[in-house]
Amino acid sequence: MNVTIEAARSVLRANDRGGYTVPTARLYPYQWNWDSAFVAMGWITFDEPRAWRELERLLEGQWDDGMVPHIIFHAPADTYFPGPDVWRTAHTIPTSGITQPPVLATAVRRCLDVATDRAGAEARAAAIYPRLLASHRWWAAARDPGGTGLVGMLHPWESGMDNSPAWDVPFARVPPTPTTPIRRKDTGHVGADMRPTDDFYRRVIALIDLYAALGWDPARMWAQTPFKVADVGINAILHRAERDLLALAGRFGTEAERAEIADRLELSRDAIAGLWSWDHGVYLPRDLTTGELIPVATSAGFLPLYAGVAEGTAAALAQTLQRWRMVVPFGVPSTDPNHAGFEPKRYWRGPVWAIVNWMIAQGFDAETEPKAAWGIRDDTASLIRRGGFAEYFDPTTGEGLGGGSFTWTAAVALAWGLLED
Ligand code: GLC
Repeated sequence: MNVTIEAARSVLRANDRGGYTVPTARLYPYQWNWDSAFVAMGWITFDEPRAWRELERLLEGQWDDGMVPHIIFHAPADTYFPGPDVWRTAHTIPTSGITQPPVLATAVRRCLDVATDRAGAEARAAAIYPRLLASHRWWAAARDPGGTGLVGMLHPWESGMDNSPAWDVPFARVPPTPTTPIRRKDTGHVGADMRPTDDFYRRVIALIDLYAALGWDPARMWAQTPFKVADVGINAILHRAERDLLALAGRFGTEAERAEIADRLELSRDAIAGLWSWDHGVYLPRDLTTGELIPVATSAGFLPLYAGVAEGTAAALAQTLQRWRMVVPFGVPSTDPNHAGFEPKRYWRGPVWAIVNWMIAQGFDAETEPKAAWGIRDDTASLIRRGGFAEYFDPTTGEGLGGGSFTWTAAVALAWGLLED
């Protein structure tokens, strides 16, 4: 495979649609929220103005209440379902009505830290900072109205780990009877065995129909949804993003804003600690409908490391990783390979994702488990050497799967320094 630095840059350039980058041609023809945050961290390694533009274009989709939607439909495309006609939201640039893991503040901080055009970076980060603050305030108000320190997701797509087996039980409570017809396009681009099932899509659309009928009002959605989960991935990523926002507030914010962010950090640090499971050797999500932890170990369960809140559990997490790696030759599988729901080719039910590996490896670094961190880095580099910049990889064979020439895989390879000239 041609996986040089130049090849990775070409993947970003080829998917540039004028200031925003699509995840991959055809399968995902719009701007996706957390994809763009990772992609900006790739652009910043070779084209600084373009990196800032990516983040600014994502924020063109931000709602008045602060939410940054999961898809921004900048331009029409007929290769993706569900499009703007299904979402029926009111924003001027059409967007979806849900969000995705908030990597954005982390991307802004990193771009600011590594930029060589200091004055340009300062000016652009300063202009973005109030938008980040609004987005984090939205998370607290709309998704943790009880002030518990854990935010809830109201749609499995908000986790970014769409069909993880961790959502199977709570998602089964969603009646699969949408009024909107299912017109899937994804299986025309990628084999159906690598994608979520039809039944999954029927429930996905049923939730969208319900929320559209509620006018996308966060309070009504929170009160009426049959699906409400505190995802460990979202909460860890948000916590990390709050730390990065606090650093940005040190340069661009007020004393009161810094105190507000610090309060949220303290609350969520303790709440995330409550998701730890000695039995599973990872952190688990909590089903907010029943109040119970969901007993399915996934790669998201390592992300409190990346948040910097895995005090006292880093060694146990390193052991869990080692246990999983004895079953599969490439880490980190998105689902515990010993779990009955593990499927090595099906999307978030088993495959390895480069962006998740990068976050977990950063966490192990910070928690002084360098062996685990280097192991994940080596696995990711060899997967990309074998499978190219694929969307995701089979942990049992190393095969690249899903969409090819995928932008966040190329971006992470650039930002993580996995490639050579
Ligand atoms: C899929 C993934 C999601 C990603 C999107 C675009 O929906 O599950 O995490 O953001 O594709 O790449």
